[in-house]
Amino acid sequence: MTAFNDATGLADWVSRTRAGLTEGRFPARAFNDVDVHALEQERLFAKAWCFLAHESEIPSPGDYVTRKIGNNNLIVARDEHGVIHANLNMCRHRGNVMCKSEMGNASHFRCSYHGWTYKNSGELVGVPYMKEGYEGRLKRKDWGLVAVRVDTYEGLVFGCLDPEGPSLAEYLGGFQFYLDLYLKHGLGGVEVHGPPDHWVADTDWKICAENFAGDGYHTPVAHQWGFHLGYFPSSGTTHSQGWAASIPGKGHGIGLGHGPGYPAFSGFPDQVVAGMKEAMSPEQVAVFSQIRTAVGTVFPNLSFLMQPFSLVPGDPGVRFVTMRLYHPAGPGRMEMYSWCLVPKDAPEDYKAEAYRAYTLAFGQAGTFEQDDFENWTKVTASAGSGLVRDLDFPYIMGMESEPVPEFPGPGHVVRPYVNDTNFRNMWSRWGDYLAGEA
Ligand code: FES
Ligand SMILES: [Fe+2]
Repeated sequence: MTAFNDATGLADWVSRTRAGLTEGRFPARAFNDVDVHALEQERLFAKAWCFLAHESEIPSPGDYVTRKIGNNNLIVARDEHGVIHANLNMCRHRGNVMCKSEMGNASHFRCSYHGWTYKNSGELVGVPYMKEGYEGRLKRKDWGLVAVRVDTYEGLVFGCLDPEGPSLAEYLGGFQFYLDLYLKHGLGGVEVHGPPDHWVADTDWKICAENFAGDGYHTPVAHQWGFHLGYFPSSGTTHSQGWAASIPGKGHGIGLGHGPGYPAFSGFPDQVVAGMKEAMSPEQVAVFSQIRTAVGTVFPNLSFLMQPFSLVPGDPGVRFVTMRLYHPAGPGRMEMYSWCLVPKDAPEDYKAEAYRAYTLAFGQAGTFEQDDFENWTKVTASAGSGLVRDLDFPYIMGMESEPVPEFPGPGHVVRPYVNDTNFRNMWSRWGDYLAGEA
């Protein structure tokens, strides 16, 4: 893959890309390019609020997981007082990786190189040969692990590498309304069901983020078996109905599939439905009761999906929620995390059934997941090839769509669900970051 000749060439490409978007075009090159990947690391992942973990993954003091923002490795830990910290997973002495396992429980982390020891909050507490070696010159308080900003929304823990940027609430910018559809499943909220599925794929993270920002267009084709065999209660003709909602200037988007005749809240136990109605606002209940499927992306790379899936073809099916993180692992390469979220207060048998439905559809060997990755890896490979990389793709669907005035949710909401509006908004935000304007 040829690189851009210089920084000016890349800057020109970014500005041409942003101009193209206003006419509904976006270049293939964005999806598999070494310089674009590097620029994303520098300007996007260094500034955006990025998802780290769900609080239920680290429920007790000392629990931790290791996660990443861009190319930075982090320890996300709950300290002895219950406070969540994110620190660079790097020893301040010579830069060794402090914690080499993906999850666990520890009050302290001890470096395997020279033995510096830190509390799980990041404070440096132990330095071998302190007196003999440093003769009083090393101040422990100056050499703690490097802390990263952390904030939470409804159990979601986000981190931001930029100390100056906006608050998480400002960053989400109203998308919380739609996130609640996945998170407020009763007053107790949701929890993860087991550790995430975690794998790598030759796919650019942006292809997946776009797909989950509301690509209802692919479902009747890529996942047609689900329609035909009765695992998924919709059809090619009813599937396009519904809404596409996006938060202008923020990049977040959601596709809300409407299934005519599909009973409100079907697929959830009655007790969960009662909890949702209590936990959500009347406007949220009004939106939620009309939809069959909700598939959304928090810019840049965290996505959610809720859909019904029948374990026995033709049955009404169970509704499950998956949350997924598309971690950029190189140009055209991605590290995927995928969780199943279940209502915390739901009966255990429902949690187990929802997890089975999730696993069959969206676990790493899931049927939907296999369909998608077959397409996504091919798209990525094309985008890296000599002729394709300079071509644009059309993003003109719904270019003239007028917002639906009576819709009770925030943002720019258009019909139908099959629409490019969310994607234009997403790539426009991505362009703001790459141009250094966000
Ligand atoms: S690199 Fe960690 S103690 Fe030396
Ligand atoms: Fe899909």
